[in-house]
Amino acid sequence: MARILLGVSGGIAAYKALEFARLATSGGHGVRVLMTEGAERFVGAASFEGIVGSPVLTSEFERDPMRGAFPGDDAPEHDPIGHLAVAANCDAYLVAPASANTLAKLAGGIADSMVTTSFLACTAPRLVAPAMNDRMYGDAATQANLATLRERGVTVIEPDEGALASRGEHGKGRLPDPARLLALVESELPTGQRPWDGLRVLVTAGGTREPIDSVRFLGNRSSGRMGIALAAAAARRGAEVTLIAANVALPEPPGVHRIDVETGEQLANAAQAEFPNSHVLLMAAAPADFRASEIATGKLTRDASLDLHLEPTEDILASLTASKTEQQTVVAFAAEAGENTERAKQKLARKKADLIVLNDISNPEIGFESSENAVTLIDTDDATEIPQAPKTTIAEAILDRVSSLREEGRQSPRTDGYSKRRANSRDACSGEGIAVPLPHHAELYSPPSCKPHPMYPKWAWPTFFTASSQCKIFSKTSKSSFVSSTPSSTWSRSSSRAPKRCGSS
Ligand SMILES: Cc1cc2nc3c(=O)[nH]c(=O)nc-3n(C[C@H](O)[C@H](O)[C@H](O)COP(=O)(O)O)c2cc1C
Repeated sequence: MARILLGVSGGIAAYKALEFARLATSGGHGVRVLMTEGAERFVGAASFEGIVGSPVLTSEFERDPMRGAFPGDDAPEHDPIGHLAVAANCDAYLVAPASANTLAKLAGGIADSMVTTSFLACTAPRLVAPAMNDRMYGDAATQANLATLRERGVTVIEPDEGALASRGEHGKGRLPDPARLLALVESELPTGQRPWDGLRVLVTAGGTREPIDSVRFLGNRSSGRMGIALAAAAARRGAEVTLIAANVALPEPPGVHRIDVETGEQLANAAQAEFPNSHVLLMAAAPADFRASEIATGKLTRDASLDLHLEPTEDILASLTASKTEQQTVVAFAAEAGENTERAKQKLARKKADLIVLNDISNPEIGFESSENAVTLIDTDDATEIPQAPKTTIAEAILDRVSSLREEGRQSPRTDGYSKRRANSRDACSGEGIAVPLPHHAELYSPPSCKPHPMYPKWAWPTFFTASSQCKIFSKTSKSSFVSSTPSSTWSRSSSRAPKRCGSS
């Protein structure tokens, strides 16, 4: 995961930087926070420190107890110069909110605080998110400063338009949603830095419409919010995401490939075309279960027959999972009135899914058309309740579960004891090398001379192999091994678990 440096300057939107820090940290990133003295008048350093788990720095002259390291990294033995070290160690530096004052300093090359000095010293992607009153934002000085920063390769995140902090005011100057800020930061991170790099994820969202005549349809209340939140979260984790959107009025998240459909048949066709190329399917759309047996041409009139004959539609999920491979993870959604874990479990088995997200639709406050939901995640072994939360949070919980299912090698229920054997696969590890459990009863063993790829330990450890021709794959059952320097398709489906040094716990 990436090391994100967050610079917070003095503006009312500084409170949103706390949410950014929380999202980035819960997304697995290591976050260090720098604050201007102005920012400290709006939010407290203690809040950031509690969220990210590392000290906040304000002055270049104060000691950094972490010696420039990010959470999860080892601190160096020497005490480096703080502003140079955090800037050198970060993968991206976001200043949010960026006040008019701080923007002017950044554009002018002024280095009088941790935020501004580190900005000058930072060669990683740099982003600024201006947030201020609309007249301050529109002023020629601010605009000239932003133009200067853009010319120098800094990404300027456009503020949103809407209600401003000052009472009754409205205009352009709002700090965008923290989740969007995170998506933009993550989109600037180099490939290999994110946990789902290399994964292709297919998300379906919204509700299908089955025509009755030229103007009327049978539809449902699904807005597509859950699917959009899943697509955004998967893209943030580095996945290549395709979103099949059935009548979704919301915009797709940045970097997501969108396919718009209307009917269940169109949804089925699009999904059939995309599923074979996908590692993960998140079936959040609500396809209609019935459609009109005959679609009337034109518009039915009042005096026409009121008998509407329906026929069942294709079971899209079941037809997709009929060709599901062991390397694919399928998440189904079940909307039930009243919690019905047993029915969901039956659906899990019937549809050959790996996980069911059970959504109790009896509570009108949440679920359909709402930005919040409460769900139960059900797999063959467990049922985990996710209490009411924004759909963005629910999406992260679902993706966390998908990660752990894939990590456990349980893409589909298995009966051969495979996962248990994999869990014990470090038994075969000996000597000083690095051993990694692999699917198919195999294990990677690399001698110490096999240096990890710079992106290691990241999700896609096939990149690990490209770094050396000395890495070996041992079959645990046949004890045979082979040596290669290029990743194969078998390896690319391997565990997300970081390789462990032999002998380490
Ligand atoms: C209540 C209040 C709200 C403010 N909100 C903003 C703001 O949203 N954006 C901004 O650029 N400045 C805002 N300012 C002004 C900055 O706090 C001020 O310019 C300060 O010097 C910024 O310092 P810094 O850039 O070093 O953090 C606000 C000031 C006050 C008193």
